[in-house]
Amino acid sequence: MVIVLKKKENFDKIPIIDIAPLINNENSIYLDEVGRKIRDACKNFGFFYIKNHNISKSHIDILISVIQNFFNLPIKDKNKIHINNSKIFRGYTPLGEEYTDNSYDWHECVDFGLETKKNDSNYKKLLGPNQWPEGQTAFRKALERHWDLMIRLGKKITQGLAISLDLSKDHFLPFMDKSHSYMRVSHYPPNNNSNKKNIGEGIGPHIDYGFLTILTQDKIEGLQIKNHNDEWLNAPIIPETFLINIGHMIQRWSNDYYKATVHRVISPSNNRYSIPFFFEPNFDTVVSPLDKFCNKHNSPSYKPLHFGDYLIDTFKNSYSSIVDY
Ligand SMILES: [Fe+2]
Repeated sequence: MVIVLKKKENFDKIPIIDIAPLINNENSIYLDEVGRKIRDACKNFGFFYIKNHNISKSHIDILISVIQNFFNLPIKDKNKIHINNSKIFRGYTPLGEEYTDNSYDWHECVDFGLETKKNDSNYKKLLGPNQWPEGQTAFRKALERHWDLMIRLGKKITQGLAISLDLSKDHFLPFMDKSHSYMRVSHYPPNNNSNKKNIGEGIGPHIDYGFLTILTQDKIEGLQIKNHNDEWLNAPIIPETFLINIGHMIQRWSNDYYKATVHRVISPSNNRYSIPFFFEPNFDTVVSPLDKFCNKHNSPSYKPLHFGDYLIDTFKNSYSSIVDY
């Protein structure tokens, strides 16, 4: 008797998608092709690389170098912009202080959000100024430029996602005109053991809470994604690409047609630097499953959700030490 083993589907290579047609506003045949590739990638991985995004290598090189300089500062200088100084979750988190999936993550990071002037601050809406390290003008300049570039790129990818879902290209854009995004610079040093208890990997398994994430990586890999065969798959470094993943808001909008993928960062053997940009809807966006993904066989899996309220709850859980909402 011959036993035929069912071949596992091939979920071992995260696709690379050329998004030039989106960037250049090309005609619909090419856009449809990009949309198809995004749909396959989202269904099979929840992750994809993009190339031909029109963001220069020199910008990324500068960005990585200013970030390395910042993390090389003495801890007392980094702590001057400690996240505990901010009511709106902006600033520096030292090694082993963020908590994911029941253990402390072995990374340090700085979080930035939509920058507003002091008199436009509204901490109940998570609005206000970022914390910038004193005397680090190149750091600030590179990151402010990165913010602008990522907002523009995020909108382009959002158009691609809309096409991939058979929606009009601009379907989501009205929800993104005051995009309540976040930008994080991260350093994952090797974990040569610490004295602290309950230290996990670089960052524990999780899905991204928001709409989509645009990840800039330096030269050291460490990110792993859980594929449909329930295996951890390395996300290699591919020069001059960004790695995109979809978050929980797309899952809700598409009523589980797309699902956010679990991922983690394992502690690397060399210093890893990365810059995830969390491209998000406006604070007051209400996310509900779209009609086209609901029918009598497929009822809505989610209630309408106010994105800003959800964000506050999510942050409260991650940074319980600083919250007095
Ligand atoms: Fe993530």
